[in-house]
Amino acid sequence: MKTIEVNNKHVTGTVSEAQLEAMKPEAAAALKTLLEGSGAGNDFLGWLDLPTRTPDALLDDINATAAQLRKDCDYVVAIGIGGSYLGAKAVIEALSDAFSAYRSQSGTTVLFAGQNIGEDYLYELKDFLKDKSFGIVVISKSGTTTEPAIAFRMLKEQLEKQIGKADASKRIVAITDAKRGALRQLATEEGYKTYVIDDNVGGRFSVLSPVGLLPIAVAGYDIKALMDGARTMQAATNEASMENPAFKYALTRNALYQAGKKTEILVNYNPKLHYFGEWWKQLYGESEGKENKGIFPAAVDNSTDLHSMGQWIQEGERTIFETVVSVLEQRHTEVIPSDEANLDGLNYIAGKRVDEVNKMAELGTRIAHVDGGVPNMIVTLPALTEQYLGELIYFFEKACGISGYMLGVNPFNQPGVEAYKRNMFALLRKPGYEAETAAIQAKL
Ligand code: PA5
Repeated sequence: MKTIEVNNKHVTGTVSEAQLEAMKPEAAAALKTLLEGSGAGNDFLGWLDLPTRTPDALLDDINATAAQLRKDCDYVVAIGIGGSYLGAKAVIEALSDAFSAYRSQSGTTVLFAGQNIGEDYLYELKDFLKDKSFGIVVISKSGTTTEPAIAFRMLKEQLEKQIGKADASKRIVAITDAKRGALRQLATEEGYKTYVIDDNVGGRFSVLSPVGLLPIAVAGYDIKALMDGARTMQAATNEASMENPAFKYALTRNALYQAGKKTEILVNYNPKLHYFGEWWKQLYGESEGKENKGIFPAAVDNSTDLHSMGQWIQEGERTIFETVVSVLEQRHTEVIPSDEANLDGLNYIAGKRVDEVNKMAELGTRIAHVDGGVPNMIVTLPALTEQYLGELIYFFEKACGISGYMLGVNPFNQPGVEAYKRNMFALLRKPGYEAETAAIQAKL
């Protein structure tokens, strides 16, 4: 059966086979800790068996809600930030036609808000929606995050003005904690349809819950196939063996880190994967960057970025390694035409598929980078489909749990995210922050 695979052959110039072998017990212990739930943050392991424990009835219910929103709305705004945004955005971008925004409208388009506090962004979104039929999926596990709360307040007001409060409440769906938070209270009072984010599923591990599944279903994609792929990977990632792709990836990246490779660049050669890189950066950045430790997660889109970051990667400080996400099959076929005059000198590749040229750019770059002191791993994906994206998501999540435990941190908390919030609340004079306001004013 086709599935995703990890190749770590091209790291051996930096870490030897023997060094990789020697790290197996450490990786096995981390995997055991994760599977037994005996490590730090073990109250946040609900994502581990989400693919197998999510009932079909929930997926059917999500599909029914999505179908109703698709019937009522040309646009649905998914409001959320961080883990309540990036997973859905990554999957939708990976599966969408790159030019759908410029084609005549067919079906329902998912837009995003609450992932920034850009005043112009919100103005332009509101202005765009003012004569459109739209709905809202508001997502916040805590139910108190400022960025989505602002966007929701503004878009809810607009929707209620456009179609009236009663109809607006039928086009708003809230995804939040079962009991806690302002959003839960608001949803109950306004009578919105709601979905629960389980207590034991953290934001950045929540894409395979209603958080990611509802926006993905609204965009018209097959969430059952996505979950099916995740189930395949759940079953394939439990053994302490190099046959387990999550084990192999987690082990190898920690070996590289210990060898002084402090930055990992996730590389794609398919522009549809840009937001997958953003999702991955959050997953690994928030999970591992703590206690003054952690691989810095970066991402590039090639070959675009070979003309911007390529120089640095080839010859800059030798503290980086790459993980290339390589998509084997493309959805469409485009062949480079022959040209009699050949003024551009391209006839030597006439008749080849564009993807063949892209694959040679990928291979040539990988060899050049290894030669230049940048070890790389390859994660091969048969195609960009719901099934394989489900596999890829679960693979990276499982590997992140193993890797975080190998690093010796709690991969499931994010204490550092609070620092900016405290300062922002103090600067905005939020009630309850009087002491912090005085303290921060003294620093200005
Ligand atoms: O991974 C995380 O926990 C965070 O990135 C959150 O998803 C993000 O801060 C948004 O939080 P919330 O869903 O509570 O609004």
